[in-house]
Amino acid sequence: MRRFLVAIDGPAGAGKSTVARLVAEQLGLTYVDTGAMYRGVAWRALQEKVDVTNEEVLAQLAEATQFKLEKEGIRINGKWLKEELRTPEVSQLASAIAKMGEVRQALVRKQQEIARQHGVVMDGRDIGTHVLPHADVKVFLTASIEKRAKRRYLELLAKGYQVDERTLQEEIRKRDENDQTRKHSPLRQAEDAVFIDTSDLTVSEVVEKILELCRTKV
Ligand code: C5P
Repeated sequence: MRRFLVAIDGPAGAGKSTVARLVAEQLGLTYVDTGAMYRGVAWRALQEKVDVTNEEVLAQLAEATQFKLEKEGIRINGKWLKEELRTPEVSQLASAIAKMGEVRQALVRKQQEIARQHGVVMDGRDIGTHVLPHADVKVFLTASIEKRAKRRYLELLAKGYQVDERTLQEEIRKRDENDQTRKHSPLRQAEDAVFIDTSDLTVSEVVEKILELCRTKV
């Protein structure tokens, strides 16, 4: 089969990674979590105590970081990182470095290189608009802030964390604003992307909708 490319974009907490992973599994494609790449660079910057305001240094760090795709996610410089990438400190820095044009350029190049070698389901904020403008299927996934905060709340509760739902809503609202108003590749729906509001849909309903779109393009 030719390399089939699926781009899934949307705001934080819309369920992109869960859905993208399942779609990739069903179609036998490689799942690429581009958010984990921004988080990975942020994590390395903190580990190596580099100046996190220096765009050039961070872009070099992004360039020098190896991302190895595996079924479960991305290995960063040979290291298997999961919860380490989800701390508030890493989330905040990932969001800040995602505003830097040179860092984005380095990571976008790597994402495009992956898509030259594999059929992919890639999720992020700028995949349909910038990274894979010629993707076969483009989806823009979103949900209300209340629903997104509720999902995050239940996820954290299940892990044993006590959090305030209103605080989560506020954090999500801030991240949306950051993503939508930044100068380089702000979050927006590509003109040819299909809009799916997941507020009242189950994960399998969303996955089925995307698979249906893919079937029409194969
Ligand atoms: O999706 P996730 O929350 O893991 O992304 C981490 C950060 O990376 C977000 O703050 C988002 O702004 C940024 N990001 C981005 N472009 C992408 C993927 C993520 O700017 N393609």
